[in-house]
Amino acid sequence: MSGVNEIRSIFLDYFKKNGHEIVPSSPLVPRNDPTLMFTNAGMVQFKNVFTGLEQRSYSRATTSQKCVRAGGKHNDLDNVGYTARHHTFFEMLGNFSFGDYFKEEAISLAWNLITKEFGLAKDKLLVTVYHTDDDAANFWKKIAGLSDDRIIRIATSDNFWAMGDIGPCGPCSEIFYDHGEDIWGGPPGSAEEDGDRFIEIWNLVFMQFEQLTKEERVELPRPSIDTGMGLERIAAVLQGVHDNYDIDLFKALIRASEEATGVKAEGKARASHRVIADHLRASSFLIADGVLPSNEGRGYVLRRIMRRAMRHAELLGAREPLMWRLLPALIREMGQAYPELIRAEALISETLKLEETRFRKTLERGLGLLGEATENLGEGGRLDGETAFKLYDTYGFPLDLTQDALRQRGIGVDVEGFNAAMERQKAEARANWAGSGEAATETVWFSVHDKVGATEFLGYETEEAEGIITALVRDGAVVDSVGEGETVAVVVNQTPFYGESGGQVGDAGTISGEDFIIEISDTQKKGDGVFVHIGRVTKGEAKTGAVVELAVNSARRTRIRSNHSATHLLHEALREMLGTHVAQKGSLVAPDRLRFDFSHPKPILAEELKQIEDIANAIVLQNAPVTTRLMAVDDAIAEGAMALFGEKYGDEVRVVSMGTATQGAKAGKSYSTELCGGTHVRRTGDIGLIRVVSEGAVAAGVRRIEALTGEAARRYLEEQDERVKALAATLKTTPAEALDRVTSLLEERRKLERELTEARKKLALGGDGAQAAAENETVNGVNFIGKVVSGVSPRDLKPLADEGKKQLGSGVVAFIGVGEDGKASAVVGVTDDLTARISAVDLVRAASAALGGSGGGGRPDMAQAGGPEGAKASEAIAAVRAALQ
Ligand code: ALA
Repeated sequence: MSGVNEIRSIFLDYFKKNGHEIVPSSPLVPRNDPTLMFTNAGMVQFKNVFTGLEQRSYSRATTSQKCVRAGGKHNDLDNVGYTARHHTFFEMLGNFSFGDYFKEEAISLAWNLITKEFGLAKDKLLVTVYHTDDDAANFWKKIAGLSDDRIIRIATSDNFWAMGDIGPCGPCSEIFYDHGEDIWGGPPGSAEEDGDRFIEIWNLVFMQFEQLTKEERVELPRPSIDTGMGLERIAAVLQGVHDNYDIDLFKALIRASEEATGVKAEGKARASHRVIADHLRASSFLIADGVLPSNEGRGYVLRRIMRRAMRHAELLGAREPLMWRLLPALIREMGQAYPELIRAEALISETLKLEETRFRKTLERGLGLLGEATENLGEGGRLDGETAFKLYDTYGFPLDLTQDALRQRGIGVDVEGFNAAMERQKAEARANWAGSGEAATETVWFSVHDKVGATEFLGYETEEAEGIITALVRDGAVVDSVGEGETVAVVVNQTPFYGESGGQVGDAGTISGEDFIIEISDTQKKGDGVFVHIGRVTKGEAKTGAVVELAVNSARRTRIRSNHSATHLLHEALREMLGTHVAQKGSLVAPDRLRFDFSHPKPILAEELKQIEDIANAIVLQNAPVTTRLMAVDDAIAEGAMALFGEKYGDEVRVVSMGTATQGAKAGKSYSTELCGGTHVRRTGDIGLIRVVSEGAVAAGVRRIEALTGEAARRYLEEQDERVKALAATLKTTPAEALDRVTSLLEERRKLERELTEARKKLALGGDGAQAAAENETVNGVNFIGKVVSGVSPRDLKPLADEGKKQLGSGVVAFIGVGEDGKASAVVGVTDDLTARISAVDLVRAASAALGGSGGGGRPDMAQAGGPEGAKASEAIAAVRAALQ
């Protein structure tokens, strides 16, 4: 008898021995199929390989695939807990041939595995084939030696398998196991086939067709094989039990739930433990694959599953949140085969705890209301739709939870009434919104949301996915198609494109259909979670309803991630350096740079800035993983997560943590923790490098830093380096000595300037003293020097005049300097012995008038003036001379 983990290995190894590639399970949220809510079979990840769209390096593969059948075409939620074999989450073992082997080898491989490797007795086995499939029937006869009565022909869709309404499909052949006479039931096709005696354990699909539309089916390029064996079912058979919930894996989970609640899985409690065990698996795996509880789409299916389990926890009398306490048991059982569970442990644990805590707050009152409303109903009764809606709307009871709660008492729910109440509420919301005064251009998004719901965002997990165009909007109006060259806003049911928010810019990339391409330049979030991709049709004609490939410009997104994570690190480093008064006032996370505004009353010193950069880069070098959790706002803030004051957050928030603090009160704990819906690097090392390139004020008390990361930072430094090298080369020295060289050049220049000024002064005074004296003139008995000087700055005119006075001993000096701008400045000096009768002020005014100026000022011994007309400098000297006379 083998455990589940061993059976999984035996299966995969067997097919590996037979030339198959072991391929890891794909995520529960399909990346390659927009029509599926969840991956519901092993072949989903190979869909495009079957149709020939995609090539792989192998033509045989084997997998153990995570599947969820809840919501969508295959939905088992309602039955889980009450039957022996229904699950929301299960593992499908499969082998695949892509145009390699076909029916004969598929049957042979299967028969060999179950009878030889698994050792099942031949007389316990029988098979079905599609009623017209003689080939399959003959191979079974030849290979397994089964008699005709053990090869049952079935004409219904039971033996024609399809992934969904469209996609690969084909006739199939199912292998059944007979659990023995003790159990009621008949072989497939018989009246008692719904009994539990004959159980299908393996489905071999002979993939031959592709359903293109409801009406149109074409042949696949090459006949292929897709098989699916429920791991839980085969484990039951191999472990000699009849009920899937009695296999080792489920026994371990149920034991954990028994221990945590102190209630044995017997009597009425049995179903509750089963629901909990099953839903624990579905919830944990969905969360690990990026689905988080919400009120729409996948997130809502997850919420329904979680809340259904949580009601059963309450039925078992659990006083505290239960589910998260069972997670370690699940990880023990399945973590090795699915390491994503281990990686996401914190996220799963906190999401479970949070959801259960919140739900518990209303659960009791909701159940009270339900009790009252059904008090007088007996078996066969029906709860009214209004109450069911109130339970949904006010108490968070999904409809199926209410149905489940009443099921054991045989009471149904008026689903129509429920839907009508839901519609009415939507209409009211619409009316309120219409009156709220939002711009008319935005109304279109509200009606789009009303019609197609919110967009599912896949961009935390993937940058590429398929989607269906649900709306095209051109010039503010919904249209059916948009032609080449036109600008359009595209809405899809699910997208990996990030819509601008929280400072992070929207993604760019391409949306392409079979015969058209739309280049997307920006993505915005509008009215209640509708993601709007803005772009231009560059080829063909885009149509609503088309299936499209969405590909985010990955290089651009990578740079955005780096810049966003770096913003968090800088934010924390600023607080560490400058103090906790630093609060975010705004940010821009773009592909080429980041900008961060924060409160701080004064400029940051160069030394501080350097340390801030050092601190942030030290966390980059830690190369620590960046983790995301979902938490209640209050809990997150209590834990120290930074939130933006005045920002509106939902009840639940994503909390992004990175790095490890090495000192202070947080030592050993996460370095940066922020509420954030943005996209981030996987590890801090992915940022590469952070470089602050500017710091300045944007408003009173608000500073702004701009920074670069990764390649942009490196290139920036490289440019700086090039400049220093060029500088050194020009200075004919090495970069290391360039600074010394510039300092001494500047010193030399200052010295030369001083010498030059001296020389010019001398020149202005007419060379050395003796010669100058000879050149002096006498005006009206007074010694006089009057000169137009060049190359002497206005502020040097005065010392020049002093010098002149000294030379004369007794007399008057007048100098006019003309600047490069053509303006003139004049200075007149009079030696003290003459000031009683001659005033420098009067003389300088005469000069000023000649220069087109308006007066001047000073003292009798020294006065200055200016004037715009430098060309008249000689006239100004003459004017002074005339005034002396
Ligand atoms: N795809 C087939 C199934 O899910 C094998 O049953």
